[in-house]
Amino acid sequence: MHSRHSEWILILDYGSQFTQLIARRLRELHIYCEIHPFNVDLTEVSQPTPGGVILSGGPMSVNDDEAPHLQKEIFDWDVPVLGVCYGLQLLAHTEIPGSVEKAEKREYGRANLLIDNSEDLLKDIPNKSVVWMSHGDHIHELPESYEIIGHTANAKVAAVRHKENHIYGVQFHPEVAHTDHGKQLLQNFAYDICGLKGDWTSKSFIDEQVRAIREKVGTDKVLCALSGGVDSTVVATLLHKALGDQLQCMFVDNGLLRRNEFENVMHLYTRDLHLPVRGVDASDLFLERLHGISDPEEKRKIIGNTFIDVFEKEIDHDSDFKYLAQGTLYPDVIESVSFKGPSATIKSHHNVGGLPEKMKLDLIEPVRELFKDEVREVGKELGIPEHFIGRHPFPGPGLGIRVLGDLSKERLDLLREADHIFIEELEKQNLYDEVWQALAVLLPVQSVGVMGDERTYEFTVALRAVTSVDGMTADWAHLPYEFLAHVSNRIINEIKGINRVVYDVSSKPPATIEWE
Ligand code: XMP
Repeated sequence: MHSRHSEWILILDYGSQFTQLIARRLRELHIYCEIHPFNVDLTEVSQPTPGGVILSGGPMSVNDDEAPHLQKEIFDWDVPVLGVCYGLQLLAHTEIPGSVEKAEKREYGRANLLIDNSEDLLKDIPNKSVVWMSHGDHIHELPESYEIIGHTANAKVAAVRHKENHIYGVQFHPEVAHTDHGKQLLQNFAYDICGLKGDWTSKSFIDEQVRAIREKVGTDKVLCALSGGVDSTVVATLLHKALGDQLQCMFVDNGLLRRNEFENVMHLYTRDLHLPVRGVDASDLFLERLHGISDPEEKRKIIGNTFIDVFEKEIDHDSDFKYLAQGTLYPDVIESVSFKGPSATIKSHHNVGGLPEKMKLDLIEPVRELFKDEVREVGKELGIPEHFIGRHPFPGPGLGIRVLGDLSKERLDLLREADHIFIEELEKQNLYDEVWQALAVLLPVQSVGVMGDERTYEFTVALRAVTSVDGMTADWAHLPYEFLAHVSNRIINEIKGINRVVYDVSSKPPATIEWE
């Protein structure tokens, strides 16, 4: 399914680590945009024709043999083009091969932009504002068809425009936060130069998706696996709005959920959101299959396969489902299409991978163009309660990957209690929203303690709380000592079987957020 907003910008990716940020900044300006690899088949991105094209930065030199090239056919669309860093060099190189060369001094970091012409791209940007540079090559010979509109002390060509066509380029990165007026520059490009209105909002997104879902699905039936998380809940609510009874949701208790999670979430789904959801208690089956398993990837595999088995058994075979709805997000999509290729699998995060093939279902992924915070905005617009929208991420394999070593019901129960105390205290002391994710891990070691006059030999719980933007990198949260002391006391006093609590002070990388 592809239902593009009618006004949009195409971002061609040349591999820069900042490409996603261009999309983020444009979306903040309510401009719909998509990132595609530089060599995308242009027929895939020409309906409707984009209102503008941005060529991203990239790690290579345009003079390298293997350097990614420019598809000149984009100029046939006759829409404005903005080249950023590598993108700019590519524009120059395409016109005059050899016009880009290695700079004597590589330029990384801050520079002051001196403006030579503030008519269009650099409108409303103060002179000498800070811009962020990151390049080893520079343009030593600017094609005659271009003129310089901005420079810095080290870069004679920092911003240019074509003398006749709406083609622009900047050597610095307007998309990074360190470039003071970068957003203004992108706004000038999108609003003034491309003439876009900036009318892409959660509400317009919902209206468009509802229309597109109806068109795609027709009178067929859609199955949606709910996880209790924000993404799948937003997807189900959106589908329900579009399809009503043609949607059937399923929420499986795999025995690896938090305390009272199954009841609480079922309550939200049925009473607050009126979703057609079937709750299935499959905890015995999951726990039986997982008993004694200690290898993390094996746990994930068993959990994923058991989900599929439960689904197959539970769905009403007469009802003939044609589609499976999933809460795939934009970062997953970009990761898999980028020309750099998918990054190495560190942990397999696909909880029900294999289900669509096995059940011969087509996928429907209505939020695959959104970032996490945009999904949250859409969720709010759909009337999902705020406290639910703000929940921390929770992995599909749940507490199964937080009981380290052998899994058993007893160990899961110990962890469930510790997790409950930790999260409850974070909420009580208004720290829950300060951290991106918080969790407790049950370690497979016992150690000696003393309680009253008695020697104990019990388990250790590790607490972990992190700050992060997207979960890709994270730092340990600097929670107050008093708070940690209080949580530790409660866990040790209230849970028989735990006599030691430690706090995880590792960042990601090199550690990961979960312990398994
Ligand atoms: P890591 O541990 O890789 O976690 O730093 C990053 C984020 O992903 C979540 N996570 C998972 N989510 N299935 C999921 O749905 C998984 O197997 C899985 N493993 C990790 C983790 O909770 C964190 O938010």
